Amino acid sequence: MNDSWNQLFEECSACTACELHKTRTNCVFGTGSRTADILFVGEAPGENEDKTGTPFVGRAGQLLDKYLFAVDIPRESVYIANILKCRPPKNRDPLPAEEDACIEFLRRQVRLIQPKIIVCLGRISAMRLLKPDFKITKEHGEWFEKGNFLITAVYHPALLLRDPRKKEDMLVDMKKIKERLDQIKEKTTV
Ligand code: URA
Repeated sequence: MNDSWNQLFEECSACTACELHKTRTNCVFGTGSRTADILFVGEAPGENEDKTGTPFVGRAGQLLDKYLFAVDIPRESVYIANILKCRPPKNRDPLPAEEDACIEFLRRQVRLIQPKIIVCLGRISAMRLLKPDFKITKEHGEWFEKGNFLITAVYHPALLLRDPRKKEDMLVDMKKIKERLDQIKEKTTV
């Protein structure tokens, strides 16, 4: 199938594949550059994201913005999406069946964007995109090669709000991501 952004967005907005469509205000499809080298993947929309239809705009999103700014990666230059496109009630963890119902939208976004680097924001995203037994405390900042992509995982910004001691690790990981990005860009420019 020759997929298109419009088609994907329309399908996603009309999706009723799991119960979460009943309580959503907006489908939180994704935002950013459709030709991005980096794709950030969070867990699921929260209250502010559900209201606005845009991922990572609440407190966690504002913290993510600070890290992107700190390592000189403009937010508009990356693509940001989530494993789930609809908000789970009271921000509970996604259910496996909800992830299964939704993951094809993310796969199609990945095929359209063809990013060089995928960054999992938090453990839920890493467990889905890297491996089910991923341990974020031990394995954050490590690089994995999967198909055409390099994948890494960093702490979820919401966790950093609850546990600021992890912020130093986050900055180190984000700097490593920027280094990799610069290396990739060097290789592709003559
Ligand atoms: N947390 C997420 O994982 N995604 C969002 O979009 C917002 C908060």
